[in-house]
Amino acid sequence: MKPVVLLPHPLPPDWISSLDGRVELIVGAEQETGWSANVTESISRADGLLSLLTDRIDEVLLEKMPRLRIVSNMAVGVDNIDVKACTRRGIPVGNTPGAMTDATADLTLSLLLAAARRLPESSRDAREGRWRTWSPTGWLGADLRGATLGIIGLGKIGRAVAERARGFGLRLVYWKPAPSPENEAAAGARYVTFDELMSTSDFVTLHCPLNESTRGLIDEAALRKMKPSAILVNAARGPVVDTPALVRALTENWIRFAALDVTDPEPLPPDHVLYSLPNCFILPHIGSATHGTRKRMAEMACENLLSGLDGRRLPNCVNPEVYS
Ligand code: DGY
Repeated sequence: MKPVVLLPHPLPPDWISSLDGRVELIVGAEQETGWSANVTESISRADGLLSLLTDRIDEVLLEKMPRLRIVSNMAVGVDNIDVKACTRRGIPVGNTPGAMTDATADLTLSLLLAAARRLPESSRDAREGRWRTWSPTGWLGADLRGATLGIIGLGKIGRAVAERARGFGLRLVYWKPAPSPENEAAAGARYVTFDELMSTSDFVTLHCPLNESTRGLIDEAALRKMKPSAILVNAARGPVVDTPALVRALTENWIRFAALDVTDPEPLPPDHVLYSLPNCFILPHIGSATHGTRKRMAEMACENLLSGLDGRRLPNCVNPEVYS
């Protein structure tokens, strides 16, 4: 008997070809929210689950999955999963670190450059008939060379952002709960306190995971510390920023601009006030959205899944304590 695996959201067959013949795959229907009936009906007999960051894996669901031996998330972030609840049940949780590093760092720089050089606004002006002449003072943006980029979190993605930012002549500072001297040297970034980073950076970019200590990290107090000319970039997780505080910061010009690939909530409803603000630019969480990256993420998720089903240690496991 092959192990039963739930794949609630369909993925291109060539991304998951390593599962062929190895598992009984229950693939959900292409739908925007929730799980389709065929997946829900198979919950109690599932040995494995290949989830996306939009799937909530909590106590209530785990209770219904007595046979579950592996949760493999096709993402580096696992904030959609109650990892502690999985650990209590001895279920390893896999993720896909590294696969999306370059794509996310590239997108971060895209956001930073778009905001610094006012691309959304100037493109809209051109399209809507406000480009009447080459104006010496029109659409002036921020210089990058010599400006300070503050990086919150200096993991793989933060370091990849640092590598790119150095090429633009940005000065780099970073903050995370504990300094990491070896990463710091490689990144060419100087460790500063959180307050110093927020108050001295011309650009602040977020690259920390979402967890209990980072939820709402960028709150009213933090935003009020930023320069009025500063630009905030978020390609990490929406809830790291307190959305109502950000709305006030942008409305009352405490900061100049926010360029967001992630929001809280997600998806951000079309009538959300953030869309109406001229100093905010929003993308629909596309940091890892390149062909090669998403395929690699799916392949890594399959590797974790198969390892878990075989009772082998996952190549990438966020709760290795299940093995002790
Ligand atoms: C992740 O892997 O956590 C990313 O957010 C996906 O884009």
